[in-house]
Amino acid sequence: MRRMKNIRLTRLLWPLCAVATFLAGSCALGPRLAAAQTSVTTPGFQWQSLGQSTFRANCAGCHQESGQGVSGAFPPLAGHAPELAAQKSGRNYLVRVVLFGLEGSIVVDGNSFNAAMPPWAQLSDDQIAAVLDYVLNAWGNDQKLPAGFAPILPADVAAARSKSLTSSEVYALRREVLPSVQTTNASPAGRTDAKSVPTFTAEQAERGEAAYRHACQDCHGSALDNGEFGGPPIKGPYFSAHWGTGNVAALYAYTKTKMPPDRPGDLSAETYIDLIAFILSRNGYQDGAAELSADLDALQRMSLKK
Ligand code: HEC
Ligand code: HEC
Repeated sequence: MRRMKNIRLTRLLWPLCAVATFLAGSCALGPRLAAAQTSVTTPGFQWQSLGQSTFRANCAGCHQESGQGVSGAFPPLAGHAPELAAQKSGRNYLVRVVLFGLEGSIVVDGNSFNAAMPPWAQLSDDQIAAVLDYVLNAWGNDQKLPAGFAPILPADVAAARSKSLTSSEVYALRREVLPSVQTTNASPAGRTDAKSVPTFTAEQAERGEAAYRHACQDCHGSALDNGEFGGPPIKGPYFSAHWGTGNVAALYAYTKTKMPPDRPGDLSAETYIDLIAFILSRNGYQDGAAELSADLDALQRMSLKK
C-alpha cells in the first residue's frame, strides 16, 4: 500500500497582507475583515447570507457549490458535515479545521483524501462561524444534525483562535474525534486514483507565462524558485514533494482559491488553467496536442506522479 506524502501549506496569511501592501499599495483582507466583523450585531446569530457568501468565495472552489467535493481531491461536506458535528468534540474540531487547516490522509465514505486543507485564520470570527453554520445546514445537512444542535457562534471561533494549532495537530484531533473511522490505509477499492498524464499545449504554457510575469513573478521569482517576497519555490523538489503525488485538480483549486494572496480568484478560470500549464511545463511535464481545461473531473484524473 502506497502512502502518499502530504502537502504542507500551513503558513500565516497576515504576513502576505503586508507583502501585498508593499507591492500593490493595498491589501484586500483588511477592509473585508472589518466589514464582516460589523455585519452581524443581532443577538440571534444571523449566519445565513454571510455563511453562503463566505462559502462561495472561499470554499466552493474545492468542496464545490453542491458540497459534493471532487473525488480523489476534496472531501464532500454534503451529508458528511453532520457526522462530524455529532461526535463528542465535533464542534471544536470543525472550528479548528477551518481556522488552522488539516494535513493528513483521511477517509470519507470509503474514499481517501490526502491533499491539504489550507488554514482560513484570515477570515473573521463571524465569517468562520457563519460558513460552518451554512455547511451544517445546506444541502439537506440540517435534516441530519443531532436534535437541538445549536449554531456555532463567533465566540466559539474567538476561543479556538486564542490557542493556535498546526494543521498536523488538527489531524491528530480528528483522530481523537473520530476514533472509529479509519484515517489511514484506506482499502485500495475505495481510492479513486488519478490515471492519466496531464495534457496541455506549448501555446497554453506561453499564455500562462505571460500571466505569470504579470501576477506571480514578484513573489515566486523569474525562475519559479528565486522569489524575493516570500513566495515558496513552485518548481523542482519542493514542488514535487508538495504536489507530485497528487492530481492536477488539487493544484488548480489551490492556486485559484489562494493566489495571488491579496486577491485570490481574481483571474479568469482560463488564466488559472494557463498558469497551471506553465507551471507544469517548468516542472518537466511534457506538452502535447490537447489543451488543459478547467474541468475538475478531468483534472482530477490527471496524476502528477512521474
Ligand atoms: C484548496 C482546496 C480547499 C479549500 C479552498 C477548502 N477546503 Fe476544506 N478541505 C480540503 C481538503 C483537501 C480537505 C481534506 C484534508 C485532508 O485530507 O487532510 C478538507 C477538509 C475539510 C473539512 C474536514 C472534513 C473531515 O472529514 O474532517 C471541513 C469541515 C472543511 N474542509 C471545510 C471547509 C470550509 C468551510 C472551507 C472554506 C472556508 C474549505 N473547507 C475550503 C480542501 C479545501
Ligand atoms: C504576494 C506574494 C505572492 C504572489 C503575488 C503570488 N504568490 Fe503564490 N504563494 C505565496 C506564498 C507566501 C505561498 C505559500 C502560502 C502558504 O503556504 O500558505 C504561495 C504558494 C503558492 C503555491 C503553492 C506552493 C507550495 O507548494 O507550497 C502555488 C502553486 C502558487 N503560490 C502559485 C502562484 C501563482 C500561479 C501566482 C500568480 C497568479 C501566485 N502564486 C502569486 C506568495 C505569492
